[in-house]
Amino acid sequence: MGSRRLLPFRRAAALTIGVLCTATQAGGTTVSPDVRARETVAKMTLDEKLSLVRGELGMAVPMPRVPKPSPSAIGSAGYVPGVPRLGIPALQETDAELGVTNPFNTRPGDVATALPSMLAIAASWDGDIAFAGGAMIGGEARAKGFNMLLAGAANLVREPRGGRNFEYPGEDPLLAGVIAGESIRGIQSNRIGSTIKHFAVNSQETDRDYMSADMPEAALRESDLLAFQIAIERGRPASVMCAYNRINGVPACEDRALLSDVLKRDWGYPGWVMSDWGAVRSTVASALAGLDQESAAVVDKQPFFGGPLAAALARGDVSQARIDNMAYRIVRSLYAIGVVDSPPRPIRIDYDTNRRIAGNVADQGLVLLRNQRRTLPLDATLRSIAVIGSHADKGVLTGGGSSLVRPVGGDAVEIKLDPASPLSDYMRIVYLPSSPLAAIRARAPAARVAFDPGTDIAAAVRAARQADVAIVFAHQPMLETMDAQHLSLPDSQDDLIRAVAAANRRTIVVLETGGAVTMPWIDDVAAVLAAWYPGADGGAAIARILFGDIDPAGRLPITFPRNEAQLPVRNSELDNTGQPIVRYVEGADVGYRWFVGRRQVPLYPFGFGMSYTRFAYDQVRMGRGKVAAVSFRVRNIGERSGYAVPQLYLANSPSCRSPIRRLLGWKKLYLKPGERRHISIPIEPRLLADFDSSTDQWRIGAGRYDLMLATSAIDELARVSTTLPFELLPAGEGIN
Ligand code: BGC
Repeated sequence: MGSRRLLPFRRAAALTIGVLCTATQAGGTTVSPDVRARETVAKMTLDEKLSLVRGELGMAVPMPRVPKPSPSAIGSAGYVPGVPRLGIPALQETDAELGVTNPFNTRPGDVATALPSMLAIAASWDGDIAFAGGAMIGGEARAKGFNMLLAGAANLVREPRGGRNFEYPGEDPLLAGVIAGESIRGIQSNRIGSTIKHFAVNSQETDRDYMSADMPEAALRESDLLAFQIAIERGRPASVMCAYNRINGVPACEDRALLSDVLKRDWGYPGWVMSDWGAVRSTVASALAGLDQESAAVVDKQPFFGGPLAAALARGDVSQARIDNMAYRIVRSLYAIGVVDSPPRPIRIDYDTNRRIAGNVADQGLVLLRNQRRTLPLDATLRSIAVIGSHADKGVLTGGGSSLVRPVGGDAVEIKLDPASPLSDYMRIVYLPSSPLAAIRARAPAARVAFDPGTDIAAAVRAARQADVAIVFAHQPMLETMDAQHLSLPDSQDDLIRAVAAANRRTIVVLETGGAVTMPWIDDVAAVLAAWYPGADGGAAIARILFGDIDPAGRLPITFPRNEAQLPVRNSELDNTGQPIVRYVEGADVGYRWFVGRRQVPLYPFGFGMSYTRFAYDQVRMGRGKVAAVSFRVRNIGERSGYAVPQLYLANSPSCRSPIRRLLGWKKLYLKPGERRHISIPIEPRLLADFDSSTDQWRIGAGRYDLMLATSAIDELARVSTTLPFELLPAGEGIN
């Protein structure tokens, strides 16, 4: 991003502070967090400020030169000493994207509840589900004594092969923003802080430390940054974690335009910016750009804050006011969220209840993609079922890296990818102990349910031939630091599925994947259920959907391409310093927008997912009222109760010459047979607008807009149009 002018009038608007004061009042004081933070920082010594802005490693990494964590650290990713004499607690930081982690078993034997992957949460299209998952994680973290969670990943799934896609809330800025924001709000409802991360465009793992994610600024604002903006507005996270990668050549943690101009000025963000672990490369440039805290300084090439920051202050390269502001932002968030007034105290955790919460999330997030000849739901009176592959006798797959949870009940299966490495704890493929086989057996007690590991295709075919129904579990293990080489299922599973499908026409495939995969066998199988990584109760949730105890409620938060030739081409280039650049040529047209723009038909579109019942929609019209909205009627015209997820897209606007599609809003409903409801979907105005980077504003062009009511990005139900006058929306504000 280039540097940009200051717009003082907008800054003034953004400084209308104090919205979070009510949170503080619950802590017994009516003084705003701003005032309290200002007073506290005024009493701090320089050393106290410097110690607050330089974090330590909180986990026991088994490497000779890595220092042991402070005895005061509970033991997880990070630790920052507090200022006890002023009542400021130490920051006990833990990764908690999908559950509270325990890296390197630093807290020996401590376990936690694992939620389904973030893609599954996003597939619920349900902010309440994201909130409930976040609240559960936050509750466990608080009970373990943590007060700052490294959670809230809001990166878009821009690169379908990305290693961390399972941690990300999908490819659309509105859906991702709502899901990430609600998940953060859920965490912070426990009066502990959460980050939002990784700011911004950490879309791939290949070369993540050095690569530059390149695209025009307007495209950034309309895609990845819009997801963050919406998530920050909803979730009000304590902190923003800046990413490893560079953006248009500038390291994210040194990007003044990103951190100071967009985040803090345009959006009015009042919290602090912390670095990702090992993402800082400078003292002065980072401090001036807007980085407020160096995380786990020992992981950086050298510590950059602390002593070097004191030296920069002495030289006059960084001002006292800037250092005060760093401390102020940290302390302000701690007051605003309740961390100071309501410190966590260890309590017993009810893991059974929490497993059920994880199960609810899975129930809402698994997506039925195909169901020929009403193969599903299965009949509990089936005589024989063959369950094949992917350790389905033991558990369900999860994603690896810093988000990996040590599950209650222990790992059902653990495969170490690099056992000799001191970092092998991060490089593991783990199955959680929730066995789909056991759940299927429990659900069909009269049936003969055989298990075949799927490693010998001939044996699997024999098992499938002898059964009424064959259920093949397919896996695609993904982990932080490694992108997928391609979108095919690994381990010859395409061959396995083809062979089983040829032996049994009632073959059902259950996908446990980190994201989209190709399905060259799709026409041969009867049904496909996308189970993502389904979490602590995943095996049972899969059985609940297969047997129709609940209606499949999930809808795709990403596009499943037919093949990789449909994807934007990624040429890797080097810049003049020899560092990699990836030009994201699709710009703001991530995922389904790219497919629509190119008139390409994917295998399964964004927004798609089947129910066991059917719905009819009519009376579609532009709503009246101040907020633009589209209203319509939905009826359940099938025989079962079920979920409908009608979606509203922009299909044409005065500024676009080629076909476009942008999600403007949606509703999720549960209707009984014959039940009907009148619904109105309000429109998010920033999705009607284009971002004008020359004036720093969202611009709604005058003219006609076509809006499409649909059940996916391409399955249209009806169109309405409206004519809008020219309008400018501010770049941001209202986050604080
Ligand atoms: C990841 C972050 C994580 C941090 C601390 C980094 O490798 O990118 O998501 O919070 O480590 O574990």
